[in-house]
Amino acid sequence: MPADNACSATAIAHPNIALCKYWGKRDAALNLPSTPSLSLTLAPFRTRTTVTWGAETDCVVFNGVENTGEESRKILLTLDRVARSMATAGAPRPPCRVETENDFPTAAGLASSASGFAALVVAADAAARTRLPDATLAALARQGSGSATRSLQGGWVEWPIGERPDGADSHGRQIAAADHWDVRMLVVLVRSGPKEIGSTEGMNHTMRTSPYYPAWVAGAAEDVVQARAAVLGRDLERLGRVTERSALRMHASMIAADPAVLYWKPETLLALEVVRAARRSGVPAWATMDAGPNVKVLCEAADSGVLVERLRGAGLDVQVLVPGGPARLLEPATATSP
Ligand code: PMV
Repeated sequence: MPADNACSATAIAHPNIALCKYWGKRDAALNLPSTPSLSLTLAPFRTRTTVTWGAETDCVVFNGVENTGEESRKILLTLDRVARSMATAGAPRPPCRVETENDFPTAAGLASSASGFAALVVAADAAARTRLPDATLAALARQGSGSATRSLQGGWVEWPIGERPDGADSHGRQIAAADHWDVRMLVVLVRSGPKEIGSTEGMNHTMRTSPYYPAWVAGAAEDVVQARAAVLGRDLERLGRVTERSALRMHASMIAADPAVLYWKPETLLALEVVRAARRSGVPAWATMDAGPNVKVLCEAADSGVLVERLRGAGLDVQVLVPGGPARLLEPATATSP
């Protein structure tokens, strides 16, 4: 039963896949990155989240099941931060109910935390009637999950490391809208279960123990410069080369950690080989992988059919994603009568 003055709002957000990766933190508490990144927001995958600000008790329902674990702790922590950003800061946060669902596999390296925290801050801001500036919402999303700061925006988004110690200048910024360039991202689903090592743990371990980590960080800024120019000039060859290089260098840094962080499965390499063979046969396509074994393939819209055929022909499960729009409220916030 909602409390007096309860207010609910529902938002949706799409995941994003980084073409230049974020891997490593310059400030763990504020979740500030050591590397700048550049991503593409992708539809139709989406997270849909409803926040009721003023419920009987705190309650988080994840894909229809009540969650009392680490995910719900992080979600409620984000709501605490929203409450602290309010004009009436100091007043205790009321109990809240959060219902969130993904229409794609959760925590499998498909950026569900990015769409999840982006949808959460947009819905919470509306339900709490805080109307926070976009940069504040982006910082709140970033503190929940770094890559979420990129899912607030649609299309092509850059996330600079920023210079300010408080991180106020380190959040996602759109460099081109979704309709700027009609590319495709094919998702090769190798495993749909949760990843074995979370991204924060994997990053911290890589930073502490990989001799390749400094080299990874040293090359990241130039990759973003190249990728930005390629996106603005709609140069797929140039963007694809940076994309695959960034992913492989990030994975090289974690594979060199002690012990190694190795997310790949045999089908990961199979997908990489199909992509490389496609390139050799004149079909332009480049692969990227995140903190999981799934492979995403960047290609022209016109080539997606033949690539899907070849990947499926190799026994792989493939879905086709397109550039997606920003996180948004589905309907105006509604006062919920008790
Ligand atoms: O935002 P997190 O903590 O889920 O980390 C994302 C890390 C990668 O997906 C591997 C890279 C990226 O930039 O999205």
